[in-house]
Amino acid sequence: MSTPLPSPAFDRPFRPRFHLGATRMDCGEEPRVDSYDAAEQATGWPLFDYSACDPTIDQAAINRWLARSVLDGKDILHIGAGNSSVARLASGRANRVVALTVSQAEFEHARNLGLPDYAIHLMNKHATAFADRFGSDEFDLVLDNNLTSFVCCQRHAERYLATLTGLLKADGTIVTHWAGMQWTLDVGVGDVEPAWQLDETKLSSIADAYDLHVRREEDLFFLSRIPA
Ligand SMILES: C[S@@+](CC[C@H](N)C(=O)[O-])C[C@H]1O[C@@H](n2cnc3c(N)ncnc32)[C@H](O)[C@@H]1O
Repeated sequence: MSTPLPSPAFDRPFRPRFHLGATRMDCGEEPRVDSYDAAEQATGWPLFDYSACDPTIDQAAINRWLARSVLDGKDILHIGAGNSSVARLASGRANRVVALTVSQAEFEHARNLGLPDYAIHLMNKHATAFADRFGSDEFDLVLDNNLTSFVCCQRHAERYLATLTGLLKADGTIVTHWAGMQWTLDVGVGDVEPAWQLDETKLSSIADAYDLHVRREEDLFFLSRIPA
């Protein structure tokens, strides 16, 4: 009987593509939708369920930018659906909005809107399920105001960032915001390493690792393959 070959992925040591000072290289767990339940329960305020909340100041700033942008025919991926403000704003303008959430309430709120060309997925963005979900789909705009706010470890952050880059059209753009870049989960349960609080230098390190260029417009940051 022949001995099975070891999986190359198992054999290969994990080599980070960028260094922001995080020490937790691999949390050892597949990220799940309920990974943050304990953190949500530890707070007396909404943390992951924004279905009944106004958008945060960073989401609102992205939405103001969207409101004055040409969205005709655009495919938009919104990470962190909240109250589906992006889908409602883009409805009838963009080609489609696809959103992700880890909140069952946000998921149901989104579905109950009944918006055409709006698809919501209950999925952890750091999970393999997300990395595998969209195949060769590509988006013009990827919006995530909390790019690294909920990172469990370097390995899963890199999986997520590689997935986002792979989902960008050649002239596509990832949009994020200073306020969300600066904030990481810090409620005393499942806290994120402060090293994941981003400044311009750290965002540039991430961008370099994925061959992206960074452009700043006030507190909005744009990452794209094509230099501005
Ligand atoms: C504080 S709420 C903000 C909602 C909205 N983006 C806003 O700023 O108003 C955090 C959002 O991020 C989503 N979220 C957090 N971690 C996530 C993860 N690992 N995968 C997918 N969505 C996540 C939550 O489901 C929720 O929609």
